[in-house]
Amino acid sequence: MASSIKISPSILSCDFSKIGEEVKALEKAGADYIHVDVMDGHFVPNLTIGPEVIKNIRPFSKKIFDVHLMISPVDNYIQQFAEAGADIITFHPEATKSTKKTIELIKKFKKKVGISLKPKSKIDLLKDYLDQIDLVLIMSVEPGFAGQKFMPEVLPKLKELKSIIEKENLKLDIEIDGGINFENSKVAKEAGANVLVSGSTIFKKNNGDLKRNIDLLRQN
Ligand code: DX5
Ligand code: ZN
Repeated sequence: MASSIKISPSILSCDFSKIGEEVKALEKAGADYIHVDVMDGHFVPNLTIGPEVIKNIRPFSKKIFDVHLMISPVDNYIQQFAEAGADIITFHPEATKSTKKTIELIKKFKKKVGISLKPKSKIDLLKDYLDQIDLVLIMSVEPGFAGQKFMPEVLPKLKELKSIIEKENLKLDIEIDGGINFENSKVAKEAGANVLVSGSTIFKKNNGDLKRNIDLLRQN
C-alpha cells in the first residue's frame, strides 16, 4: 500500500530565487510529482507564477508537473500552460463556464486532466465527469496560501469520492492539498488519498531535509 502513495511537493514554499535548483532537489529527494500552484489574485487572493516560469523550470526535472490552476476564467490560459510543460492540468469547476469544454480543451493538448474541489465545493460539481478525467484534487484548506491548517471536515468527501470511484471501477488519482503534515497524512491516506501535496511540511520541517520529509509523508 505505502509504495502506491505519491508525493507532490508544492514549490509554493520553495526559495523563489532559485526555483530551478529547488525542483531538481525535489526530484533527487524522491518526489513523484512537482506541484505548481498558479494563482491570479482574482479567483484566489494571492498571486504566484505563470507559464513563463514553468517553461523556465521545466528543463530542471523530468518528473510530472502537476499544475494546479487557481485562475478564472481558466480556458484562456490552458494552451499556454500546456505549451510551457504542464503534464497534469487541474482546474476548479467554478473557474469555467463549462467543465466539459475545459476538460476537452486540456485533452486537445494531450495533457492529463484534474478537477479540484475547494473545502465547501460539493462532489456533484464533478460527479458526471469522473470517467473523463485523471485526477481529483480535494482541497483541505481554502485555496490561496501555503502554511494553513488542515481541515479534517473534508475527509468524508474524500471517502465518498473514493467509494464512487471504486463502485464505478475507475482509475483516478485522488490528491489532497493543504496543510498536510506527518500526523494527518495517515488519515488522508485512510480516507482514500493516494497523492499528497505538501509545501510547508516538505520545505520547512527537519531543517528543510527534503528527502526525510518526503519519506516521512510517504510512510506515515
Ligand atoms: C493552496 C495550495 C497548496 C498549498 C500547499 O492554495 O493549493 O498547494 O500551497 O501548501 P501547504 O502544504 O503549506 O498547505
Ligand atoms: Zn495546490
